[in-house]
Amino acid sequence: MSPGGKLVRLGPTIGIVGGTGREGRALARRWALDGYPVVIGSRDAARAQRAAANVREAVPRGRVRGEDNASAAGSADVVVLTIPFAAQALLLPPLAPLVRGKVVIDATVPLHPEDPARPAPPPEGSALARAARLLGPDARLVGAFHTVSHLALAGEGPLEEDAFVCGDDPGAKEVAMALARSAGLRPLDAGPLQAAETLERLTPLLIGLGRRYRKQALGIRVTGL
Ligand SMILES: NC(=O)c1ccc[n+]([C@@H]2O[C@H](COP(=O)([O-])OP(=O)(O)OC[C@H]3O[C@@H](n4cnc5c(N)ncnc54)[C@H](OP(=O)(O)O)[C@@H]3O)[C@@H](O)[C@H]2O)c1
Repeated sequence: MSPGGKLVRLGPTIGIVGGTGREGRALARRWALDGYPVVIGSRDAARAQRAAANVREAVPRGRVRGEDNASAAGSADVVVLTIPFAAQALLLPPLAPLVRGKVVIDATVPLHPEDPARPAPPPEGSALARAARLLGPDARLVGAFHTVSHLALAGEGPLEEDAFVCGDDPGAKEVAMALARSAGLRPLDAGPLQAAETLERLTPLLIGLGRRYRKQALGIRVTGL
C-alpha cells in the first residue's frame, strides 16, 4: 500500500495452489497487502472463494479471488505451491502443461507423517526435485519459504527472519526474492535447486525447537550478512 493506504501495485498475478491452507493464505494476505493480484487455488473452487473472501476481509482493497487449482495456476503469471508433500503426486502432473515457462515457487516440505520434527525426503532427494520431475523441465522452479511460518506472516511490517531461495534459474530466483521482500522477509540466495535437500530439513528442525522451547512462529535469521 502507498502511505495513503491506496493500492498501487499491479501484477504479476500470483496463483497459489493449495492456497486455502495456512501457509498459502498467510502469503496471499501479505501479497494482497502489497498490491499483487492473487488467485487462491483449491481442489474445490467454492472453498477457494471462501478463503479469498477471508483474505479480502483482512485486506479490503486486495485483489484476491478463488478458483480451482488448475484455473489458479493457468491464469497466474507466477505460481506458488503450498501443498502437503503427500499431495504432490496427485496435484502436480495435471498442472505441468499450465505452468510451462512460468516461475513456480515451491514451499513444500517433506515432513515425516508420524513426527513433523523429522524430515522424510523422497528418493529424489527433496520435495523440490520431485516437483521438478512431476512438472517437467519447462517449469521455472524455485524453492522458497520453507522456514517461514504462517504465524510469523500474520502481521504487516517487516519480519526479522530470512527467506532462503534456491533454484537453477536465476531469473526465477529474482522473482521469488522480490516476492519474499514483498512479504516482509529478507531474501537470501541459498544456491541451486539441490540446496533444497538442506533447506527442507530446516523446517523439521524449527518444529522440534518450537516443541522444546514452547514457542510458535520460529524462523531463521543469518547473521554476518
Ligand atoms: N504452515 C506453515 O507455517 C508452513 C511453513 C513453511 C512451509 N510449509 C509447507 O507448506 C505446505 C502447506 O502447508 P500448510 O500448513 O499450509 O498445509 P495445510 O494447511 O494442510 O494446507 C494445504 C492445502 O493443500 C490442500 N490439501 C490438503 N491435503 C491435501 C491432499 N491430501 N491432497 C491434495 N490437496 C490437499 C488443501 O487445500 P484444498 O483442500 O482447498 O484443496 C489445504 O488447504 C506444506 O508442504 C508445509 O510443509 C508450511
